[in-house]
Amino acid sequence: MILAVAAPDTTHAPVFALHEVPLPAIAAAEGTPCYVYSAPVVQARLAGLQQAFAACGHPWALHYALKANSSLGIARLVREAGVDADANSIGEIHLALRAGFRPDQVVFTGVGKSPAELTDAVGLDLKAINAESAGELDRIDAIARTQGRRTRVALRVNPDVDAQTHAHITTGLKSSKFGVPIDDAPGLLRARKDAAGLEIIGLHVHVGSQITTLGPLCAAARKVADLAVALRAEGFPLSHLDLGGGLGIVYEGGDVPTYEAFAQALVDVARPTGLTLIVEPGRTVVGPAGVLLARVIDVKPHAGGGRFVVLDAGMTELMRPALYGAFHRILPVEPSDRPLVSCDVVGPVCESSDSFGRPRELPDPQVGDLMAIMDAGAYGAVMSNTYNRRPLPPELLVQADGSWRTLRRRQTIDDMLALEQA
Ligand SMILES: Cc1ncc(COP(=O)(O)O)c(C=O)c1O
Repeated sequence: MILAVAAPDTTHAPVFALHEVPLPAIAAAEGTPCYVYSAPVVQARLAGLQQAFAACGHPWALHYALKANSSLGIARLVREAGVDADANSIGEIHLALRAGFRPDQVVFTGVGKSPAELTDAVGLDLKAINAESAGELDRIDAIARTQGRRTRVALRVNPDVDAQTHAHITTGLKSSKFGVPIDDAPGLLRARKDAAGLEIIGLHVHVGSQITTLGPLCAAARKVADLAVALRAEGFPLSHLDLGGGLGIVYEGGDVPTYEAFAQALVDVARPTGLTLIVEPGRTVVGPAGVLLARVIDVKPHAGGGRFVVLDAGMTELMRPALYGAFHRILPVEPSDRPLVSCDVVGPVCESSDSFGRPRELPDPQVGDLMAIMDAGAYGAVMSNTYNRRPLPPELLVQADGSWRTLRRRQTIDDMLALEQA
């Protein structure tokens, strides 16, 4: 018996469907733990977003947030779909370039950009740098003048809007470190209107991630749109409004807005500004397109009843549960008619927070069983690390015909130690 193969996210279908992907064959050939992504699911979700925005009849551009999953192969898939990129560091910028994005297809966001990053980014002549402070605007200006350039910038404003999501992924409250207070923005921009190294072309906002209602996104958008209208009236030649990412996915239950509703709501706010709307979706594109495939390596009784089910994947491969208390469905990959039992599904890492879910009802897990940790395509592999000297897991991309290719091979001990000396 497979507990469930249909994912709960019906509004942004398709999603990763266990029965359509040869997970047992992949596990046998590649070993576990490993990340498995579905190319058709990524492509379908990108197409869904593109169609939704195209239908609204207003200029728009999608910039996929590489931070969600910056595997080179995923970035290339995104580029081939005709979607642009949002990079969060110079590393992500160079990743984007290697995936084939042109510099003018990349916007650069990031709460703290080092002088080296800014120098590199200015020299690349990106589509825009989203500046996070007055100081950063001045540093960009100085670097640009040194290089004999005018750098396109958008100012990231903090609208003081509660994204109603987990505190650790809330970015638009005035207590958050991101952007400049929206009320400070006009003065700060006026003071730099004639800066020789700056071309102020837009405003940027991003209030958080895993947002499951349109309210916070629209509230932030409205504040920024009003500011844009006022700035244009003052003669700022703005060309775009970048409303960030944040659209959530269904991890557990409930619902999220459809792409059509999401696009329409943002376009309705952006339209009166006359500015091109930029959106930076990450999680919604790749989250439901990936699973972390793991094997049960131990089962032992739990003092409170039930049992501990120890997987060969842990917080080193998928940090979200330990970091945010995030929920991921855990499904047995192969059919079983065993009775359901209560389990604490945990990882092998030497930390008590290394737990994927408790309690979970699973068909009496046995050592050797394959488990799929669902909706792990976003903020999964990108956050993996080598704590406890655990090698980074491979990432595999499955095509529509069931064949797969390696996006990243499993790290070896030699790889891990290659940068070190005794
Ligand atoms: C500036 C910015 N843009 C886009 C995103 C992508 O957000 P999400 O993956 O929730 O769509 C993030 C993530 O937090 C971000 O910080």
